[in-house]
Amino acid sequence: MVIVTGGTGYIGSHTCVELIGNGYEVVILDNLSNSEESVLDSIEEITGTRPQFFNVDIDNATQLAAVFEKIGSQAKSVIHFAAKKAVGESVKEPLAYYRNNLDSLMNILVEMERFQIPNLVFSSSCTVYGQPEVCPVTEATPRKEAESPYGNTKSMCEDIIRDTARAQSLKAISLRYFNPIGAHESAKIGELPVGIPNNLVPYVTQTAAGIRKELTIFGDDYDTEDGTCIRDFIHVVDLGKAHLQALRKLETETIRSSYDIFNIGTGKGSSVLELVNTFKQATGIAINFKVGPRRDGDITAVFADTTKANTVLNWKAELGLEEGLRSSWNWEQNYRSKKA
Ligand code: NAD
Ligand code: WQD
Repeated sequence: MVIVTGGTGYIGSHTCVELIGNGYEVVILDNLSNSEESVLDSIEEITGTRPQFFNVDIDNATQLAAVFEKIGSQAKSVIHFAAKKAVGESVKEPLAYYRNNLDSLMNILVEMERFQIPNLVFSSSCTVYGQPEVCPVTEATPRKEAESPYGNTKSMCEDIIRDTARAQSLKAISLRYFNPIGAHESAKIGELPVGIPNNLVPYVTQTAAGIRKELTIFGDDYDTEDGTCIRDFIHVVDLGKAHLQALRKLETETIRSSYDIFNIGTGKGSSVLELVNTFKQATGIAINFKVGPRRDGDITAVFADTTKANTVLNWKAELGLEEGLRSSWNWEQNYRSKKA
């Protein structure tokens, strides 16, 4: 059995589909603070299996302990997705972010030790690299001081896991995701941004759907080929598969403790303008856009060197930008039609 915290969320739900499809028994722990319970129906429709679900605030040690009393002794592994993730909000409410993201991880680690659960996969982020001196970034590229409290929680969580694995029986992997996009091919699960999206792809699909009037491209005067920022857009289905590979690696390791970090991206940088053009190729829809000023805190370019994940995890991104954007658009349409 694998416990998936944040399993009704965007990346968690796609990972649950991969896990169930590969024979894992999945138990989801989520407080639905940024997801909907109906995601369980969608996972069941896709896989034919409904995961067991506990509505629990992982930040609350007593509540979490009660859930682990029920399932902890059967679990072999934990994948810890649950976290608050809005960068801008974290600047305004740093304590809410430090409390939720750090306490949740520490509560999970305490329960893992109590029930002798040996394997942990943790959701980290390319945000820990800040603006790197050289791209692509490898796992050995130094982390930079975080631009936001959110980013800082990811660096701090990585360190908490590293130190815990040194001190007790724990095998752990941090996966540093680059920019996740896309949705399952069924269009039954996908990203559910609350309010006006901050991230590029949901803003693009909502503009295509007529919910937003136009996209603002934040700056075209960066030192890149077309002047817009460059990111590594990784399909969420590929991301889900990376978790499966990380889990397989941990579960077959015979050592008592270990800690490792992997970049999970495509290895290819794409510019914001390139993404807007690719959306047209993929869907036939031209996005209304204007160019506005730079957004505070944005970095010029970051993309991954994925050699380590390719070789050690035997994982490689298979889906490209066009597939990611087409699936995001299908999801946007399907979600809106169900809500209408
Ligand atoms: P998401 O918000 O869709 O999923 C996170 C889930 O965690 C949600 O379902 C939410 O309800 C739940 N949650 C949050 N706090 C909780 C708590 N205290 N108790 C129980 N459940 C709680 O986010 P996502 O995009 O799927 O991200 C998953 C993980 O990946 C997060 O840790 C995030 O920081 C990390 N990450 C995301 C991105 C991205 O761009 N989406 C990039 C890098 C890393
Ligand atoms: C991508 C590019 C924007 C919106 C964030 C977090 C990071 C990680 C992934 C969690 C940038 C441009 C965007 C818009 C635009 N999350 N853009 N108009 O900032 O690379 O990363 O998500 O760990 O921590 O910071 O992603 O999608 O917001 O932006 O021009 O309306 O699109 O300037 O260059 P970002 P994003």
